[in-house]
Amino acid sequence: MDARGTHMSEPIIRVVDVTRTYHVGDVDVQALRGINLTVEPGEFIAIMGSSGSGKSTLMSLLGCLDRPSSGEYYFEGVNVAQLSEVQLARIRSERLGFVFQSFNLLARTSAIENVALPLFYAAAGTSSGTERIERARTSLKLLGLADRERNTPGQLSGGQQQRVAIARALINDPILLLADEPTGNLDTRNSHEIMETLQSLNRERGVTIIVVTHEPDIATYTDRVITMRDGQVVSDIRSRPLRSRPELSGNSSPVDSGRNWRPATTSATETARAFAMMIVAAAIQALARNKMRSALTMLGVFIGVAALIVMVAIGQGANEAVRKQIESLGTNLLVVVPGAITMGGMRSGQGERLNSHGG
Ligand SMILES: Nc1ncnc2c1ncn2[C@@H]1O[C@H](COP(=O)(O)OP(=O)(O)O)[C@@H](O)[C@H]1O
Ligand SMILES: [Mg+2]
Repeated sequence: MDARGTHMSEPIIRVVDVTRTYHVGDVDVQALRGINLTVEPGEFIAIMGSSGSGKSTLMSLLGCLDRPSSGEYYFEGVNVAQLSEVQLARIRSERLGFVFQSFNLLARTSAIENVALPLFYAAAGTSSGTERIERARTSLKLLGLADRERNTPGQLSGGQQQRVAIARALINDPILLLADEPTGNLDTRNSHEIMETLQSLNRERGVTIIVVTHEPDIATYTDRVITMRDGQVVSDIRSRPLRSRPELSGNSSPVDSGRNWRPATTSATETARAFAMMIVAAAIQALARNKMRSALTMLGVFIGVAALIVMVAIGQGANEAVRKQIESLGTNLLVVVPGAITMGGMRSGQGERLNSHGG
């Protein structure tokens, strides 16, 4: 075994007595009540259970999007509780792929650009534009969408949109793919197509997959079904034996791309710099993607600032003009008005007497 072989003996996921409680006002909602779970590399798992049983909460924890209220979560042997936000983000972008019920694709953006998007967010993703497009193309081809790369989401069917989303989730060669009800918005035929796609990704490319579903016929595609009720695992049934490790560590497997995300290997400053680079790159990309909008926004700002400058200039000019006029009149000018009576600072007209107290 190679140097990484030491990690191969660890499960990808080890969840120990995990609970998750949401505080809503004065009420505590116990979404997870003591979950224990181990996931080995190469597994294909369905999580089932009625609505509100805690499936999505568990997926958020497994996806490092949330932290447990108590208990431990080890991802590839590393205790997630000890990682910083930046390190968690790095795991999410380099080790995990996410697929959601609503495909979450950018509208007005071609399939290939949608797929390439995560490459901007990966710390290791400083690849050139052509390299990004090549990788996105390979990923789309894997999902059978080679001839649709220029289509925007609106020009694709639901099933095709979900396959674009899966291609995007796979672009960074994740070790684990998490799919929360990926077929929830699809008709039966497209649902089965998506499940066949996931199955072949698992069987042929060795991607570990966890998929949440309500539907028993969707779950039959997987090798292990975990059923949840009220935040607990009530059954965990393996219908297919776990395959042997050597089969999974072959070169065709995207699992062993040799990248090392482990916190110990890179310094905090290096990670922070990569993160900053990523943010800048993503911002530039977002501006470039919406050229017209960026230009109009800029024009708006220019007009606003120019208007402000003009207003202030006019105000100052008028002020100056009035000052000059008063200066030309002279300050030693005295106006005398005959018969005026002043009371309480108010002049009450000319040549008139004020009647006081009704007298
Ligand atoms: N962000 C949240 N805030 C408060 N309660 C939540 C939140 N998310 C989920 N819950 C509650 O936790 C429980 C489990 O929810 P969830 O994990 O979404 O279930 P499932 O995905 O199985 O339908 C539900 O009772 C739900 O109302
Ligand atoms: Mg859910």
